[in-house]
Amino acid sequence: MGILFTIFTFTATVLLLIIIAFLYLTFQIYSGKSIKNPDYPPVNGTIFSRIFYFNRLYDYQTDVAKKQKTFRLLGPGQSELYTTDIRNIEHVLKTKFDNYTKGKYNQDIATDLFGNGIFAVDGDKWRQQRKLASFEFSTRVLRDFSCSVFRRNAAKLVRVISEMAIVDQIFDMQDTLMRCTLNSIFKVGFGVELNCLEGSSKEGTEFMKAFDDSNALVFRRYVDPLWKLKKYFNIGSEASLKKNIKIIDAFVTNLIRTKRKLLAEERLCDDKEDILSRIFGGEQERS
Ligand SMILES: *[C@@H]1O[C@H](CO)[C@@H](O)[C@H](O)[C@H]1NC(C)=O
Ligand SMILES: *[C@@H]1O[C@H](CO)[C@@H](O)[C@H](O)[C@H]1NC(C)=O
Repeated sequence: MGILFTIFTFTATVLLLIIIAFLYLTFQIYSGKSIKNPDYPPVNGTIFSRIFYFNRLYDYQTDVAKKQKTFRLLGPGQSELYTTDIRNIEHVLKTKFDNYTKGKYNQDIATDLFGNGIFAVDGDKWRQQRKLASFEFSTRVLRDFSCSVFRRNAAKLVRVISEMAIVDQIFDMQDTLMRCTLNSIFKVGFGVELNCLEGSSKEGTEFMKAFDDSNALVFRRYVDPLWKLKKYFNIGSEASLKKNIKIIDAFVTNLIRTKRKLLAEERLCDDKEDILSRIFGGEQERS
């Protein structure tokens, strides 16, 4: 009898706790959200409803956005706003840009991969990098250089695809486009050939995979409430992320070191076309 009673009490307590947690979460999600107020964008469910569409999330969100240009998803203690309305986009990205910071929440998630780069910072740090980048991109040298790089890589893409078409080979278009893009970005940004479209460089391919995977893993943090705990214990997705970031860091550090050395030997002085060389070049001229 005693044992039965204990089991019963234990089960009842656990059930009660689950119910309380559920009610609390529901309250946090729905209270104070002006759900029916037409001054606010329409609600398209809760953020948890997106779990069912996680593997085709972009497609699903696009479908919804085709019907409602701006909509809300309710989350505990907050709402997420999605918009494809150009007036809103202009307001956020231009007119009132300073009001829409990335904020600590996003920074916590993104910093491990993006460091203090332009994609992860706000305010003065952002402005400084943005100024440097827009200055560089407005120079003729870089514009001409990037144009020719994009053209060359587009031609390469066509060649690779037609070769596969000739032999009736099935291929992954998204993967192929990603490789082509990375090739171009690396040439323009760092002045090196990654050669990942042809897959001829083992390091390049390894880097590409690490970069792609870590983007997905960082994105997963948004839906994984335990990511900080996993990071602390270095397990699961967080352990893979750490490993991937190590590969990325090693690759980029090596690249920068080589470039610095070449520049110091002035072997690159007529060839300061890529962004990295230009930034280092500016560094040397100023010092
Ligand atoms: C969200 O929007 C889609 C597309 O308009 C619609 O089919 C779906 O029922 C909406 N979901 C909710 C919960 O309003
Ligand atoms: C933007 O920020 C300023 C200053 O912090 C504030 O006064 C203003 O109400 C904000 N505007 C919007 C549209 O959020």
